[in-house]
Parts: sequence; C-alpha cells; structure tokens
Amino acid sequence: MRIGVLGTGAMAAALAGSWARAGHELLIGGRSAAKAETLAGRVGGRAGSLREAAGFGSVVLLAVPYAALADTLRRAGADEGTLRGRTVVDCTNPLDMATMEPAPELLDGGPSAARRIAGLVGGAHVVKGFNLAPAQVWGRSPYGPGDAPVDVPLCGDDEAALAAVRTLVGEMGCEPLDGGGLERAGLLEATAAVAAGLWGQGRQPGAVFGPAGG
Ligand SMILES: NC(=O)c1ccc[n+]([C@@H]2O[C@H](COP(=O)([O-])OP(=O)(O)OC[C@H]3O[C@@H](n4cnc5c(N)ncnc54)[C@H](OP(=O)(O)O)[C@@H]3O)[C@@H](O)[C@H]2O)c1
Repeated sequence: MRIGVLGTGAMAAALAGSWARAGHELLIGGRSAAKAETLAGRVGGRAGSLREAAGFGSVVLLAVPYAALADTLRRAGADEGTLRGRTVVDCTNPLDMATMEPAPELLDGGPSAARRIAGLVGGAHVVKGFNLAPAQVWGRSPYGPGDAPVDVPLCGDDEAALAAVRTLVGEMGCEPLDGGGLERAGLLEATAAVAAGLWGQGRQPGAVFGPAGG
C-alpha cells in the first residue's frame, strides 16, 4: 500500500516503521520539514509536507495531539478534498499530552476525537485504532508466535477501509478485533484515558481486569 503519515512524533515513528518493515511505501508529512526528513530517513520512506502526505496514499495515518487535529487537517488540505475517499487511521486520544488529563469533551460526553476527525476529513473514511497501547508496543512489531498477543480493536463504518487496516494489523503480527462502528470510538478513547491514568500511577492497566480466564 501507499501510506501517507501526518505527524513525525512517537506514534508516527512506531507505526510508520512497522509498516515500512512490512514493505509498504511511505510518505512522511510534518509541520517541520526537518523532522519529516529525519523520520523518513529512519523508516525508509520519503518526506514531504502535510498536504503531500494527505494526497499520497490510499491510507493516511493521523498521529498528532488532540489539540492539533483541526490545524493539522487544515494544513493537509482536508477542506479542499485532499483526503476524499482515502482511509484515515485515527490513533489519537483526547488527552492533554503534557498531563495526560482527558480533554473536557471526553468528560462532558462531547463528540469523540474520531467523530471530530470524521467531520474534518472531507469525505475520507475514518478508522479508529492503535490508540490503546503505547508507541513502543507498535515499534516492536512484527510479533511472532512466541510473543504475548496484541489485540487491536478497530472502529469504523466503511468495510473497505476496515479491511485495509485489518491487513496492516495482521502484518504486524497483531490481531484485529471488531470494535463496532465509529459511534463506538469514544469507548476506545475513554478506555485509553483510564489506561493512561493507571500508567501514571505506575500500575499495569491490564491488571484491573484480573487474570485471564477469571
Ligand atoms: N505516544 C503514545 O504512546 C501514544 C499511544 C496511543 C495514542 N497516542 C496518541 O497519538 C497521537 C500522537 O501522539 P505522539 O505520542 O506521537 O505525539 P508526539 O510524539 O508528541 O508527536 C506529535 C506530532 O504532532 C505534531 N504536531 C502538529 N501540531 C502540533 C501541535 N499544535 N502541538 C504539538 N504537536 C503538534 C508534532 O510536530 P512537531 O514535532 O513539529 O512538534 C509531532 O509530529 C496523540 O493523539 C496521542 O494521544 C499516543
């Protein structure tokens, strides 16, 4: 696949690196041309502007802070149709990146980040995923049979878009799970907020569910 990447931070590096290892063609777009060049050099893709990354592939990863969503998509030309018909992979969480506190919208029952993105992408298909585990988990893929399983719930409304992202997940040695339609993406975002709070307390989020098998 041809994959455009919006962002040059930890999630962009981890997911783009993994997808490059799986043989996909990448164009990394950042608001900083220097950071895009550096990341493209590291993962093996090309560098460009946010707009070039938006128009490059059938799949576009959106990996920027919640507070930067609208600005990033505007710079990518979404309101001019650069993303129309493409699959936008939304790995974002509505958290303050400095404090890991949930955004007010998440606490007040406002629209999920995924829903906000769907309203900004100008006819692209949004798939929510990869937001529950830290970047390091994605950066270590592909996983093999001897590794602990990594399950990846995906929420989306377009079957072809979901199928493309399931393929990417499978190539990472991870298991794609059906998380339901995009209206359920907020549940994944709230789960990530709880997990981030537990990480912040030095706890393992998985431990709140108890041992597997009851
Ligand atoms: N890191 C994780 O473990 C993790 C896990 C799951 C989900 N997520 C979510 O994934 C998204 C990306 O996280 P990340 O950890 O990759 O973030 P990061 O390392 O801080 O990188 C953020 C990227 O967004 C760009 N950006 C554009 N506008 C920005 C603005 N106004 N303020 C700050 N950065 C801006 C940054 O550009 P510059 O470099 O030019 O600042 C950088 O390329 C977030 O929504 C986060 O909640 C992160």
